[in-house]
Amino acid sequence: MYHKQLTIGLFGFGVVGEGLYRILQQTPSLKAGIKKICIKNPDKKRNAPSDLFTTARNELLMDPEINVIVEVINESEAAFEIVATALKNNKEVVSSSKKMIAEHLVDLLELQKSTNLSFLYEASSCASIPIIRNLEEYYDNDLLHSIKAIVNGSTNFILTKIFEEKMEFSQALLLAQQLGFAESDPSLDIEGFDALNKWVILLTHAYGIVESPGNIVFTGIQNINLNDSAVAREKHYEIKLVAQAKKLQNGKVAAFVLPQFVNQSDQLAFVKNEYNGVVIESGFADKQFFYGKGAGSFATASAVLSDISALRYDYHYEYKKLYHHQPNQLTDDFFLKVYVSFDDLHLIPREKFEWIEEWHADQKRKYLVGVIAFSELKKGKWWKENKTSLILTPEAVIEDVEIRKLKKRSLELAGII
Ligand code: HSE
Repeated sequence: MYHKQLTIGLFGFGVVGEGLYRILQQTPSLKAGIKKICIKNPDKKRNAPSDLFTTARNELLMDPEINVIVEVINESEAAFEIVATALKNNKEVVSSSKKMIAEHLVDLLELQKSTNLSFLYEASSCASIPIIRNLEEYYDNDLLHSIKAIVNGSTNFILTKIFEEKMEFSQALLLAQQLGFAESDPSLDIEGFDALNKWVILLTHAYGIVESPGNIVFTGIQNINLNDSAVAREKHYEIKLVAQAKKLQNGKVAAFVLPQFVNQSDQLAFVKNEYNGVVIESGFADKQFFYGKGAGSFATASAVLSDISALRYDYHYEYKKLYHHQPNQLTDDFFLKVYVSFDDLHLIPREKFEWIEEWHADQKRKYLVGVIAFSELKKGKWWKENKTSLILTPEAVIEDVEIRKLKKRSLELAGII
């Protein structure tokens, strides 16, 4: 079979860019070569021939010989401009910029439609796990019951190091930075923005939902403390930052990114360090678990390489759930069972909870376990502020139709009715 020659213009020579450069050197069979690399800072010493580098974007974007632009830079606005110009200049594009893709999804969908060119970004979510292509190709709309995932390597690495190896938070973060896992602004990892951006992308491929990051409830691991970990241990749970989406009985989808207590028997509990994991529940197949490195130079570059390779046979995302099915809709009509730990109980709006099952407010530990409407979390910020930490219980989502029955049972158990 004839495969076209790919001549690449690469934007960015950081963790992922350099990783790709090295990997391509080891895969000559691919017939893909880097012609030019555009970088921001020409003075930095780099491990590649100096005539490969330029700081002039147009040397790549206007070169008729370059038929593929690979964009792996950090700045989201600059990345969008590069991708948009490349597509308009009739070049296919591979990107790993999750923030850029999540923030510009609508425009990018339009550009793909109007140019009919491939824009692939498997490396943007879960790095080495081929999850986008799987969601796109494998799961029929009606059958995808739920998907829950650890999509950020750095936070998972930090949680593993502080809870299992008793490392200080700051030290674990430093290590994640040194190993090339963390974003250049690590608050994007720690506060959950990176996981949120990835979830926006995966929701499109899983359910045909195109939502802006600002409309999705999320937080990171910034407020999780050692008391939370003591409670987790007591209850035989692990704490993970979990992105999830679940199709409810009303046909709509519940989706959010929050820390969660997971049972030790849960597949996600098995995911340690910079690894990511995705658990999919679907009709007939039941449960499937995808596992692999979620951050790091070669792990991420391997997904970029796979996209480059897919360009040889003109692979492009069809956005099947969006264009070929009835796209799903998000809903706020459900409840969450949550653990909330706090410093000052006056900052906790107890009246907003449907019911509270556990309550500890002594000197040593201050936390509650209760059920709250998701819409209440969406409205307020109290649960992310003043060092309050909110962690989902393993039960997580309670459907609207179940709430009355469960509330009655819980009040009976508590001897209130
Ligand atoms: N900072 C990201 C992470 C890199 O830790 O998951 C991979 O997208």
